[in-house]
Amino acid sequence: MKDLKCFSGDIKTDLIDREPFRINHKLVDHPALSLENISKVILTHPKDKVMFSKGLDHLGINFDKALVKEKDKLDINEIVETIRTSNSYIAVRSAELHPSFKDLFQDILSDVEGFMKINKTGKKAHVPMIWLFIASPGAVTPFHFDRFSNFIMQIRGSKELAVFPPGHEAVVATRDTEAYLDWDVETPPWRDEMEAYAHKFNFKAGEAVHIPYTSGHYVKNGMDDISITLSVFYHSDETLMWSKAMRLNNRLRNRGYNPTPAKQSVVKDKLKATIFPYVNKLSTTLSKFKS
Ligand SMILES: [Fe+2]
Repeated sequence: MKDLKCFSGDIKTDLIDREPFRINHKLVDHPALSLENISKVILTHPKDKVMFSKGLDHLGINFDKALVKEKDKLDINEIVETIRTSNSYIAVRSAELHPSFKDLFQDILSDVEGFMKINKTGKKAHVPMIWLFIASPGAVTPFHFDRFSNFIMQIRGSKELAVFPPGHEAVVATRDTEAYLDWDVETPPWRDEMEAYAHKFNFKAGEAVHIPYTSGHYVKNGMDDISITLSVFYHSDETLMWSKAMRLNNRLRNRGYNPTPAKQSVVKDKLKATIFPYVNKLSTTLSKFKS
Protein backbone atom coordinates (compact mmCIF):
# COMPACT_ATOMS: atom_id res chain seq x y z
CA MET A 1 0.00 0.00 0.00
CA LYS A 2 1.40 3.41 -0.98
CA ASP A 3 1.63 6.62 1.03
CA LEU A 4 1.62 5.00 4.45
CA LYS A 5 3.29 7.16 7.07
CA CYS A 6 3.70 4.66 9.92
CA PHE A 7 2.78 1.18 8.67
CA SER A 8 4.40 -0.63 5.74
CA GLY A 9 3.67 -3.56 3.46
CA ASP A 10 0.39 -4.98 2.24
CA ILE A 11 -2.41 -4.27 4.67
CA LYS A 12 -5.27 -6.75 4.60
CA THR A 13 -7.97 -4.15 5.13
CA ASP A 14 -10.76 -6.71 4.54
CA LEU A 15 -9.64 -8.53 7.70
CA ILE A 16 -9.82 -5.48 9.96
CA ASP A 17 -12.15 -6.26 12.89
CA ARG A 18 -12.65 -9.78 11.51
CA GLU A 19 -9.31 -11.55 12.10
CA PRO A 20 -5.98 -10.65 13.68
CA PHE A 21 -3.03 -10.19 11.31
CA ARG A 22 0.58 -9.06 11.35
CA ILE A 23 2.01 -6.10 9.42
CA ASN A 24 5.15 -3.98 9.71
CA HIS A 25 5.70 -0.45 10.93
CA LYS A 26 8.37 2.25 10.62
CA LEU A 27 8.39 3.68 14.16
CA VAL A 28 11.21 1.78 15.89
CA ASP A 29 13.57 4.77 15.84
CA HIS A 30 10.95 7.47 16.28
CA PRO A 31 12.33 9.95 18.87
CA ALA A 32 8.99 10.19 20.73
CA LEU A 33 9.19 6.46 21.47
CA SER A 34 12.61 6.35 23.14
CA LEU A 35 12.63 5.36 26.81
CA GLU A 36 14.09 8.79 27.58
CA ASN A 37 11.20 10.66 25.98
CA ILE A 38 8.57 8.31 27.41
CA SER A 39 10.06 8.90 30.89
CA LYS A 40 9.55 12.64 30.37
CA VAL A 41 5.96 12.06 29.24
CA ILE A 42 5.21 9.96 32.34
CA LEU A 43 6.54 12.65 34.67
CA THR A 44 4.42 15.45 33.18
CA HIS A 45 1.31 13.50 32.14
CA PRO A 46 -2.00 13.91 34.06
CA LYS A 47 -1.97 11.60 37.08
CA ASP A 48 -5.10 9.71 36.12
CA LYS A 49 -3.58 8.73 32.79
CA VAL A 50 -0.55 6.87 34.14
CA MET A 51 -1.17 3.39 35.50
CA PHE A 52 1.29 1.11 37.13
CA SER A 53 1.42 -2.50 38.21
CA LYS A 54 3.93 -4.91 39.68
CA GLY A 55 4.10 -8.69 39.72
CA LEU A 56 1.96 -9.33 36.64
CA ASP A 57 3.17 -12.86 36.07
CA HIS A 58 0.19 -15.03 35.17
CA LEU A 59 -2.80 -14.91 32.84
CA GLY A 60 -5.52 -15.19 35.47
CA ILE A 61 -4.93 -11.78 37.06
CA ASN A 62 -7.83 -9.36 36.55
CA PHE A 63 -6.25 -6.76 34.27
CA ASP A 64 -8.82 -4.06 35.08
CA LYS A 65 -7.93 -4.23 38.76
CA ALA A 66 -4.21 -4.82 38.27
CA LEU A 67 -3.56 -1.45 36.66
CA VAL A 68 -3.75 1.11 39.42
CA LYS A 69 -3.31 4.84 39.28
CA GLU A 70 -0.34 4.99 41.61
CA LYS A 71 1.62 7.82 40.14
CA ASP A 72 1.73 9.47 43.56
CA LYS A 73 3.53 6.46 44.95
CA LEU A 74 5.58 5.96 41.85
CA ASP A 75 9.20 6.97 41.73
CA ILE A 76 9.48 6.89 37.98
CA ASN A 77 13.25 7.23 38.02
CA GLU A 78 13.42 4.13 40.15
CA ILE A 79 10.95 2.28 37.93
CA VAL A 80 12.80 3.16 34.75
CA GLU A 81 16.13 2.27 36.34
CA THR A 82 14.88 -1.03 37.69
CA ILE A 83 12.45 -1.99 34.94
CA ARG A 84 14.85 -4.67 33.70
CA THR A 85 14.42 -6.61 36.94
CA SER A 86 11.37 -5.31 38.79
CA ASN A 87 8.60 -7.20 36.96
CA SER A 88 6.85 -3.86 36.53
CA TYR A 89 4.36 -2.56 34.04
CA ILE A 90 3.56 1.06 33.21
CA ALA A 91 0.64 2.08 30.98
CA VAL A 92 0.26 5.64 29.69
CA ARG A 93 -3.18 6.58 28.38
CA SER A 94 -3.71 9.37 25.81
CA ALA A 95 -0.01 9.90 25.11
CA GLU A 96 -1.13 12.06 22.15
CA LEU A 97 -1.77 14.86 24.65
CA HIS A 98 2.00 15.30 25.01
CA PRO A 99 3.53 17.66 22.40
CA SER A 100 6.15 15.07 21.38
CA PHE A 101 3.33 12.79 20.14
CA LYS A 102 1.31 15.41 18.25
CA ASP A 103 2.67 14.76 14.75
CA LEU A 104 3.04 11.03 15.29
CA PHE A 105 -0.62 10.79 16.34
CA GLN A 106 -1.73 12.57 13.16
CA ASP A 107 0.44 10.26 11.03
CA ILE A 108 -0.97 7.11 12.65
CA LEU A 109 -4.52 8.42 12.23
CA SER A 110 -3.86 9.23 8.61
CA ASP A 111 -2.93 5.56 8.00
CA VAL A 112 -5.81 4.12 10.03
CA GLU A 113 -8.36 6.39 8.37
CA GLY A 114 -6.89 5.38 5.00
CA PHE A 115 -7.61 1.72 5.85
CA MET A 116 -11.20 2.65 6.75
CA LYS A 117 -11.75 4.40 3.45
CA ILE A 118 -10.53 1.30 1.58
CA ASN A 119 -12.72 -1.19 3.47
CA LYS A 120 -15.62 1.29 3.65
CA THR A 121 -16.01 1.23 7.44
CA GLY A 122 -15.70 4.96 7.92
CA LYS A 123 -13.76 8.10 7.07
CA LYS A 124 -12.70 9.40 10.47
CA ALA A 125 -11.49 7.51 13.51
CA HIS A 126 -13.79 8.05 16.50
CA VAL A 127 -12.29 8.66 19.98
CA PRO A 128 -8.78 7.72 18.85
CA MET A 129 -6.05 7.52 21.46
CA ILE A 130 -2.51 6.30 21.92
CA TRP A 131 -1.54 4.07 24.82
CA LEU A 132 2.08 3.28 25.67
CA PHE A 133 3.10 0.18 27.59
CA ILE A 134 6.53 -0.16 29.17
CA ALA A 135 7.17 -3.51 30.80
CA SER A 136 9.90 -5.61 32.37
CA PRO A 137 11.31 -8.70 30.66
CA GLY A 138 8.99 -11.64 31.28
CA ALA A 139 6.05 -9.48 32.43
CA VAL A 140 2.61 -10.78 31.50
CA THR A 141 -0.41 -8.75 30.34
CA PRO A 142 -3.31 -10.93 31.50
CA PHE A 143 -6.17 -11.99 29.24
CA HIS A 144 -8.62 -9.19 28.52
CA PHE A 145 -10.35 -7.46 25.64
CA ASP A 146 -10.72 -3.78 24.86
CA ARG A 147 -13.68 -1.60 23.99
CA PHE A 148 -11.98 -0.35 20.80
CA SER A 149 -10.40 -1.57 17.62
CA ASN A 150 -6.62 -1.66 17.94
CA PHE A 151 -3.29 -1.77 16.15
CA ILE A 152 -0.47 -2.71 18.52
CA MET A 153 3.08 -1.79 17.48
CA GLN A 154 6.20 -3.28 19.05
CA ILE A 155 8.90 -0.62 19.43
CA ARG A 156 11.49 -2.36 21.58
CA GLY A 157 11.91 -5.92 22.88
CA SER A 158 9.87 -8.95 21.93
CA LYS A 159 6.62 -10.58 23.05
CA GLU A 160 4.41 -13.54 22.56
CA LEU A 161 1.06 -12.03 21.67
CA ALA A 162 -1.96 -14.34 21.69
CA VAL A 163 -5.11 -13.01 20.00
CA PHE A 164 -8.45 -14.84 20.10
CA PRO A 165 -11.12 -14.70 17.40
CA PRO A 166 -13.70 -11.98 18.03
CA GLY A 167 -17.21 -13.13 18.88
CA HIS A 168 -16.30 -16.78 19.51
CA GLU A 169 -18.70 -18.24 22.09
CA ALA A 170 -16.10 -20.70 23.43
CA VAL A 171 -13.77 -17.81 24.31
CA VAL A 172 -16.13 -15.12 25.60
CA ALA A 173 -19.90 -15.63 25.43
CA THR A 174 -21.85 -12.98 23.49
CA ARG A 175 -23.74 -12.05 26.64
CA ASP A 176 -20.47 -11.48 28.55
CA THR A 177 -19.04 -9.40 25.69
CA GLU A 178 -22.13 -7.19 25.63
CA ALA A 179 -22.16 -6.78 29.41
CA TYR A 180 -18.45 -5.86 29.49
CA LEU A 181 -18.89 -3.28 26.70
CA ASP A 182 -21.77 -1.78 28.70
CA TRP A 183 -19.58 -1.47 31.82
CA ASP A 184 -21.84 -3.98 33.58
CA VAL A 185 -19.22 -6.66 34.41
CA GLU A 186 -15.45 -6.99 34.67
CA THR A 187 -13.21 -8.80 32.18
CA PRO A 188 -14.39 -12.41 31.87
CA PRO A 189 -11.99 -14.75 33.69
CA TRP A 190 -9.24 -16.69 31.94
CA ARG A 191 -9.87 -20.41 31.45
CA ASP A 192 -7.04 -22.70 30.30
CA GLU A 193 -9.27 -24.36 27.69
CA MET A 194 -9.46 -21.01 25.83
CA GLU A 195 -5.80 -21.48 24.84
CA ALA A 196 -6.84 -23.83 22.00
CA TYR A 197 -8.35 -20.83 20.13
CA ALA A 198 -5.30 -18.55 20.41
CA HIS A 199 -3.66 -17.13 17.30
CA LYS A 200 -0.08 -16.60 18.50
CA PHE A 201 2.36 -14.04 17.15
CA ASN A 202 6.05 -13.93 18.01
CA PHE A 203 6.10 -10.21 18.03
CA LYS A 204 9.34 -8.23 17.45
CA ALA A 205 10.34 -4.58 17.19
CA GLY A 206 9.21 -3.24 13.81
CA GLU A 207 6.12 -5.42 13.71
CA ALA A 208 2.49 -4.53 14.34
CA VAL A 209 -0.57 -6.71 14.90
CA HIS A 210 -4.19 -5.79 14.32
CA ILE A 211 -6.39 -6.83 17.26
CA PRO A 212 -10.01 -6.86 16.02
CA TYR A 213 -12.74 -5.15 18.02
CA THR A 214 -13.66 -7.31 21.08
CA SER A 215 -10.91 -9.88 20.36
CA GLY A 216 -9.51 -11.26 23.60
CA HIS A 217 -5.72 -11.20 23.94
CA TYR A 218 -2.84 -11.69 26.31
CA VAL A 219 0.87 -10.85 26.12
CA LYS A 220 3.98 -12.49 27.55
CA ASN A 221 7.07 -10.33 27.23
CA GLY A 222 10.30 -11.88 26.01
CA MET A 223 13.19 -12.23 28.46
CA ASP A 224 15.73 -10.45 26.21
CA ASP A 225 14.89 -6.80 26.89
CA ILE A 226 12.34 -4.44 28.36
CA SER A 227 9.33 -3.96 26.14
CA ILE A 228 8.03 -0.70 24.70
CA THR A 229 4.71 -0.99 22.88
CA LEU A 230 2.39 1.58 21.31
CA SER A 231 -1.28 0.83 20.77
CA VAL A 232 -3.65 3.00 18.79
CA PHE A 233 -7.25 2.50 19.89
CA TYR A 234 -10.15 3.87 17.88
CA HIS A 235 -13.65 3.18 16.57
CA SER A 236 -14.60 3.00 12.91
CA ASP A 237 -18.23 3.84 12.02
CA GLU A 238 -18.77 0.08 11.98
CA THR A 239 -17.29 -0.73 15.42
CA LEU A 240 -19.06 2.28 16.94
CA MET A 241 -22.35 0.91 15.57
CA TRP A 242 -21.55 -2.58 16.95
CA SER A 243 -20.64 -1.08 20.31
CA LYS A 244 -23.97 0.73 20.66
CA ALA A 245 -25.93 -2.31 19.39
CA MET A 246 -24.18 -4.59 21.89
CA ARG A 247 -24.77 -2.19 24.76
CA LEU A 248 -28.47 -2.01 23.89
CA ASN A 249 -28.53 -5.82 23.70
CA ASN A 250 -27.14 -5.91 27.25
CA ARG A 251 -29.94 -3.62 28.48
CA LEU A 252 -32.51 -5.83 26.70
CA ARG A 253 -31.06 -9.06 28.15
CA ASN A 254 -31.12 -7.54 31.63
CA ARG A 255 -34.86 -7.13 31.14
CA GLY A 256 -35.39 -10.73 30.02
CA TYR A 257 -35.35 -10.28 26.25
CA ASN A 258 -33.25 -12.35 23.85
CA PRO A 259 -32.05 -9.89 21.18
CA THR A 260 -30.28 -10.80 17.94
CA PRO A 261 -26.51 -10.63 18.55
CA ALA A 262 -24.68 -7.78 16.82
CA LYS A 263 -23.03 -8.34 13.41
CA GLN A 264 -25.85 -10.63 12.18
CA SER A 265 -28.06 -7.91 10.68
CA VAL A 266 -26.77 -4.50 9.62
CA VAL A 267 -30.35 -3.17 9.61
CA LYS A 268 -30.92 -4.23 13.23
CA ASP A 269 -27.47 -3.00 14.32
CA LYS A 270 -28.13 0.41 12.75
CA LEU A 271 -31.52 0.67 14.42
CA LYS A 272 -30.12 -0.33 17.82
CA ALA A 273 -27.22 2.10 17.43
CA THR A 274 -29.70 4.89 16.72
CA ILE A 275 -31.88 4.01 19.73
CA PHE A 276 -29.11 3.33 22.25
CA PRO A 277 -28.09 6.94 23.08
CA TYR A 278 -31.73 7.77 23.99
CA VAL A 279 -32.08 4.64 26.14
CA ASN A 280 -28.78 5.39 27.82
CA LYS A 281 -29.73 8.98 28.54
CA LEU A 282 -33.10 7.95 29.93
CA SER A 283 -31.61 5.30 32.24
CA THR A 284 -28.96 7.80 33.44
CA THR A 285 -31.70 10.35 34.20
CA LEU A 286 -33.86 7.75 36.00
CA SER A 287 -30.93 6.58 38.11
CA LYS A 288 -30.50 10.17 39.38
CA PHE A 289 -34.08 10.11 40.70
CA LYS A 290 -33.39 6.83 42.50
CA SER A 291 -30.31 8.10 44.34
FE1 LIG B 1 -5.50 -4.82 25.21
